[in-house]
Amino acid sequence: MATYRIAVLPGDGIGQEVIPEAIRVLEAVGKGTGAAFEFERGLVGGAAIDATGAPLAPGTLELCRASHAILFGAVGGPKWDDVPHEQRPERGLLAIRKELDLYANLRPAKCFPMLVDASPLKRQVVEGTDLMVIRELTGGLYFGEPRGVERFADGGARAINTMAYTSREVERIARIGFEVARKRRRRLTSVDKVNVLVVSQLWREVVTRVGREYPDVTLDHMLVDNCAMALVHRPTQFDTIVTENTFGDILSDEAAILAGSMGMLPSASLGGAVGLFEPVHGTAPDIAGKGIANPIAAILSAAMLLRYSLNMTKDADRVDQAVLRVLEGGHRTADIAAAGARPRGTREMGDLIVREVERQY
Ligand code: IPM
Ligand code: MG
Repeated sequence: MATYRIAVLPGDGIGQEVIPEAIRVLEAVGKGTGAAFEFERGLVGGAAIDATGAPLAPGTLELCRASHAILFGAVGGPKWDDVPHEQRPERGLLAIRKELDLYANLRPAKCFPMLVDASPLKRQVVEGTDLMVIRELTGGLYFGEPRGVERFADGGARAINTMAYTSREVERIARIGFEVARKRRRRLTSVDKVNVLVVSQLWREVVTRVGREYPDVTLDHMLVDNCAMALVHRPTQFDTIVTENTFGDILSDEAAILAGSMGMLPSASLGGAVGLFEPVHGTAPDIAGKGIANPIAAILSAAMLLRYSLNMTKDADRVDQAVLRVLEGGHRTADIAAAGARPRGTREMGDLIVREVERQY
């Protein structure tokens, strides 16, 4: 049977609490299938700063490169708010994305039927939502040059970030968009700001051109401000969304509200030789260390790891199923619990899901 090496980078805050539950789920899959998982830990983010002085510890990139997939928690927190910009915990994650060429970030947002009332939005708005945000992850404002701050003698200053895309960068993310849409409901919405940005003009031109190769997928274009509104107004109109880095960062947080809680949203970052799988929620400093974080986003990220990096589709389905069953059983962590209900802790929720995964074999 196959042996898979998984780089485990829990990072900071609740990353440290939810990743162990995702590991236990993968171990249950290993037991069920006979596949062997070898988990090796690496330091990133604030944890790496504390231990080594840099947001990406020496050896972490090599560990990632030598693995079949990366299971990532979250990085950042108030403790490191005052470190110089280029040394912030977030730089560790950004460096991994860039170095491993993880240009395609898949963020599915689905409203689980039993959680419609967990969303602050009205039932009739969110019910039936099932969309995928595909965010370009290695270009745009996050990495464009020039960037930096100029300080003037009079005390003033000027800061620059650059939004830049090459046609090649747009083309490859557009292709991912069409391929993913093809496996879903065959509708792709490309989001840009073509009325203001020249970058968006190139974006739209290239996406339209690539679209001619996918006549079976219906392509439309939407301005990002309009999309931000439509996501909370009529989210069911969306199937697959493809957009540039910064727009995708913002829109995917907004889409999280549709799923009831950030604690439900997994992600996959693909493109290079090794994929990275990460819950979307971040480090959640307000609840870190309390053992109450929702492990579902991390567990669903492990399911995406099985699906996209190890080609273990059936096992990914089993994990998804197990999560569904546990939710159907009425179990909830604090972020998705109804008022008055007793919420489950991180470990307890992990236990329930692990048991349900075991039952699937
Ligand atoms: C995300 C996060 C990151 C980003 C941060 C932690 C650098 O917000 O993955 O959405 O901005 O890309
Ligand atoms: Mg974000």
